[in-house]
Order: sequence, then structure tokens, then C-alpha cells
Amino acid sequence: MRKVKIAVVAGARPNFMKVAPLISELNKIGAFDTVLVHTGQHYDREMSAIFFKELGLPAPDKYLGVGSASHAVQTARVMEALEKYFLKLRPDLAVVVGDVNSTLAASVVCSKMLIPVAHVEAGLRSFDRTMPEEINRIVTDSLSSYLFTTSPEARINLLKEGAKPAAIYFTGNVMIDTLKKLKKAAERRNTLAEMELNKNGYALLTLHRPSNVDDRESFVKIIKALKYISTKLTVVFPAHPRTVKQLSKFGLAGLLKGADIRLIKPAGYLDFLNLMANSKFVLTDSGGIQEETTVLGIPCLTLRNNTERPITVSQGTNLLVGGESSAISAAADKILNNSFKKAKIPRFWDGKAAVRIASILKREFSNRK
Ligand code: UD1
Repeated sequence: MRKVKIAVVAGARPNFMKVAPLISELNKIGAFDTVLVHTGQHYDREMSAIFFKELGLPAPDKYLGVGSASHAVQTARVMEALEKYFLKLRPDLAVVVGDVNSTLAASVVCSKMLIPVAHVEAGLRSFDRTMPEEINRIVTDSLSSYLFTTSPEARINLLKEGAKPAAIYFTGNVMIDTLKKLKKAAERRNTLAEMELNKNGYALLTLHRPSNVDDRESFVKIIKALKYISTKLTVVFPAHPRTVKQLSKFGLAGLLKGADIRLIKPAGYLDFLNLMANSKFVLTDSGGIQEETTVLGIPCLTLRNNTERPITVSQGTNLLVGGESSAISAAADKILNNSFKKAKIPRFWDGKAAVRIASILKREFSNRK
């Protein structure tokens, strides 16, 4: 009997830790032939290859090599290359994850080719359509036949937008599957010693959202807060390539000089997990890091005014502080004075989300054949 062919599509850094447990669990089910497509949206070693190695991902079956470009051009390149490939491959199902341009492009291509789409991490909404990811989430969810969610409010968001209740499955957080699996390996690394850091002796920062780094004034406000924080403890800053580019475009690199802010290359998965777990607190505008810090029990200051992951605020360690220098500095002081909220881990963020997803797909597809 022919196996059910599942194409798993990944393109950018935050996708890789989500597809790793999915591929592993789908492969354990003998009924599936799983194919991994890497769109090439991220291509630097630090943004891509290192994750394949550390997460134990198989080499992609197909690399589309789309690279960086404007949103329209990048999305169009993925669509063009993927359609061509899928015309040959003819998958029975495409699995897409997260909210990057590759996610949107794959869901549009598949829908028009009548290939059903499963969206892992469905239903997250920031209700801020100036964020490119919000557009990607809305379009992908509206086209998906299987909507796998990480939290209860995602279901409410999806139902409000007209999703069929039977298409929504609360399966948990696949990113946390990867974190649980690799936490011990991350702890074994010598990251702190190599960087001459002490446990709890530094704050960890990531920053790359267009709203924070594409506008000079917003970027300067954040840097001011960082300079203040760095008078209290070291700030470790693995910088995304677009952030480095913007720093130099706006002539802001000099502002960091003299401050205890360590601008380093993007870290691999294990070093970054080690850095998060041992930090005093994390400052970020990333989505996934809000979730990871919640599970690690590390305070997280999110440099945004909204989040598509409100459960990390209501249950977890996340606090939205926006982009004003004084608000960021005040929140950091609160943590340094050891008065930060207590938190718990959301339901189904337990390391078994991919197992749940694979077993639902097995049931769905064995019923069909
Ligand atoms: C993308 C995702 C974002 C995610 C982020 C994580 C979209 C809309 N955005 O944003 O949701 O949080 O990834 O990293 O899909 N670049 C390199 N090397 C690379 C990749 C990018 O130098 O390997 C540089 C290029 O100059 C590029 C810029 O970074 O123009 C932005 O990359 P892009 O993939 O367009 O978006 P991200 O900002 O990475």
C-alpha cells in the first residue's frame, strides 16, 4: 500500500525547532512518508545549518534557496519554487509551522493545488496587522484544514474568524517539545565559562522586529534602556543580521560603546538555551522566546505593546513593557529587586505536542485510505 506523503515545510530560524519533533514523531508512524522542504528564507550558518545539526534534523529533501528579499518577492519566490516541486511530489498533506513568510507562501500554494494544509501553532493573534507575522497567521489559518493550537485562546480566535470547530485541535507546544528534549544537552555546554559569565549575572537580549529596529527613534529608546540596565549587569546581545544592518545604517553602533553590552553573533540552539536558562532575565521582541522563558521560569520583558501569546503573560513569566526607555528600565529594576510575579507552565507545554499531532494525523489519514 502506498504510504501517505507528508511534506513538512520550514524556512526560517524559529521554524526549525518546531519541525524537528514533528518529523521525528511522524517518522515513528510507519504509515507516513515524510519529506522535509527548506525554503532557504534563512540561510546563514548561524540562522540555519547549526539548527539542523543541533536539533538532529535530517538534511532537507528539497532546498528552495529563496534567500532574502522584500516580503512580496521572498513570498513569491517560495510560491514559485514550491509549486514546481509539489507538482512532481504531489504530497497528500503539507505541514506548516509558525508565522513566517514561508508559512504563508506554502499555505497559499497548497490550497490552490488542493493539497490539505495542517498549521501547527494556529490561532495566535496579536490583533496588530502592522506586524507581517499577523498577516501570515491570518491567511495561513484561513486556508488550513487542520489547526493545531498551543493554548485555549487560540481556539476562540479561530472560531471568531469562522474556522470549523472540528478542524481545531488543542495539542500543545511543539517548540517546548524541543526545549524539553535538549535542555540537558544545553546544560552540559560550557557556554558561560567560554563567555566569562556567571549564572544570574547577566541579562540576555534579542531584538529584530521591524517596529523596534527599522525606526531610528524606537531603536534609540531601547538602546537607552539597555545602557541603563548595563550599569547594573552585563547585557548579552546575540544580534540578528537585520539588527546589525540597522545599527550600522542608523549609525548607532557608537552608542553601545563603553557600555557593558556584548554584541555577539546569533547563538546556536544549545548555547542560546543555556544562556536563557542561566540569565537573570531576558529582554526580547521574539515570539518563541516568550514561551521558552515561561517554561524555564526566567522573567521575560517583551519589548512590544502586544503579544500573540497572551498565555505567557497571564500564566507565565512574560511582561509586556513596550519600547519606552523608562518602562523597560523600571521593569528591569523590579526584577533586580527580586520582586517579580510567580508563574506556572501552561497546559500541554509538556514535551508531547508532536506525539499528539502525529497520532491525530494517523487517525485522520487511516480513516481516509
Ligand atoms: C523572520 C520572520 C520573523 C521571525 C524571524 C526570526 C517573516 C515575516 N519574519 O524575520 O517572524 O521572528 O525570521 O529570525 O517571515 N538575513 C541574513 N541571513 C539570514 C537571514 C536573514 O543576513 O540567514 C538578513 C537579511 O538581510 C534579510 C534580513 O536578515 O533581509 C531579514 O530576514 P527575513 O527572513 O526577511 O526576516 P527576519 O527579520 O529574519
